[in-house]
Amino acid sequence: MSPIASVERELRASVAAEVVAPTAAYLSDETEARGIRGHADAVALPRTAEEVAEVVAWCYAHDVAIVPRGGGTGYAAGAVPLDGGVVLALERLDRVRSFDPLLWRIHVEAGLRTGELRRLGREGGLLFPPDPGAAEQSQIGGNIATNAGGPHAYKYGVTGAWVTGLEVVIAPGEVVQLGGPLTKDVAGYDLKHLLIGSEGTLGVITAAWLRLTPAPEAAWPVVGFFEGLRAGCAAIERVVGSGLPAAALEYLDGETMRYTGATFPGDVPAGAFAVIAEADGSRDEAARVRTDLLDVFGEDALSVYAPETPAEIAALWRWRDGLTLVVGAQRGGKAGEDIAVPLDRLAEAIQESLEIGRRLGLPACSWGHAGDGNLHTTFLVASDDERELALVERASEELFDLALRLGGTISGEHGVGFVKHNWLERQLGPRAFDLHGAVKHVFDPRNLLNPGKKA
Ligand code: LAC
Ligand code: ZN
Repeated sequence: MSPIASVERELRASVAAEVVAPTAAYLSDETEARGIRGHADAVALPRTAEEVAEVVAWCYAHDVAIVPRGGGTGYAAGAVPLDGGVVLALERLDRVRSFDPLLWRIHVEAGLRTGELRRLGREGGLLFPPDPGAAEQSQIGGNIATNAGGPHAYKYGVTGAWVTGLEVVIAPGEVVQLGGPLTKDVAGYDLKHLLIGSEGTLGVITAAWLRLTPAPEAAWPVVGFFEGLRAGCAAIERVVGSGLPAAALEYLDGETMRYTGATFPGDVPAGAFAVIAEADGSRDEAARVRTDLLDVFGEDALSVYAPETPAEIAALWRWRDGLTLVVGAQRGGKAGEDIAVPLDRLAEAIQESLEIGRRLGLPACSWGHAGDGNLHTTFLVASDDERELALVERASEELFDLALRLGGTISGEHGVGFVKHNWLERQLGPRAFDLHGAVKHVFDPRNLLNPGKKA
């Protein structure tokens, strides 16, 4: 609880940014589907980095928590204000500061929507590869703050791999630049990468310099349907082991296909486990890889779907992006996690994660970024059933335990947020966890930047 009688009124009187009363849109993210809702004292809507710095300075001077927020599409409640304070929404910092297509780089503000950034790149013949779901709603600042992934992270890496510089507001209210429009920079500690994935706990990202790459001439996905988990995972291992440079390598288990198969743009054999792989590059290169992928899948696939037209291909990826919503609609609520394991433990991890659901009596399904060993095992619940919501928390805890037992991580792409904050120490071990806390203390000595998250 803040010592200030009216944070909203006093903040409004003190800063240039617009300050409004919190509305529901600023108090939740995708974890609302598992019953997580926040509350805040005010929402600040700055238009410039200087206005962000002013809000941070006021909050720091008055001991008020600051919860930075992008598009609100997170799965870990990282941008949900859990204990009051000021939601610092970056949506009005949405300008492109400069775009140099011939140098493959762009300088954008944090609130620019990811989909818009990708479109701009394409118009310049370039690709910004990170493709987390909900790209039309999510913002690049939030993607950087969570180091978001997506299907094409398999070949191209996660968001952080494309960031060469950041502009950040740090406590107690100062704008600093870490890196810039540089492709190489080994001077000093890599502070920029400390901020990438820091989930608003070390500073507020206000702008970024990003790398782009020439857009591949062709990108052709192929989907193999397999008898079950073992056959599907064996096909995934064959794709990797044969050295095929797939751009994406995804899996969807039989239950996921049962929930979402009706909207899949091709025929789905009943009960099949699906693997999506994409071939990209020059037309010749993509055609060669596509043929090889079809051969690898063809060894024992029940069937293969290989769309060719741009419309069919777009429909397939649209379906893939939307499947979390379709799964969530089955019972009204869901909890989806993002553990990642070493690739040789993938089949085991999927199997055991589904068994958690069976043991607890919760319907479960699993899909994810197979090539990165990244699972989105998801438990379905009735969102108004307190008993099931409590069970889902247990299921998630068992998932995190499974990830660590298999030598993996509690989060491959969604971040720790609030959902996993109790687990970080177990993953890092006591000494690394202490260092983690010491870093936080250097950046945020009063623990006002997104408190209760990440650690
Ligand atoms: C996905 C989201 C949940 O990959 O990360 O579907
Ligand atoms: Zn994902």
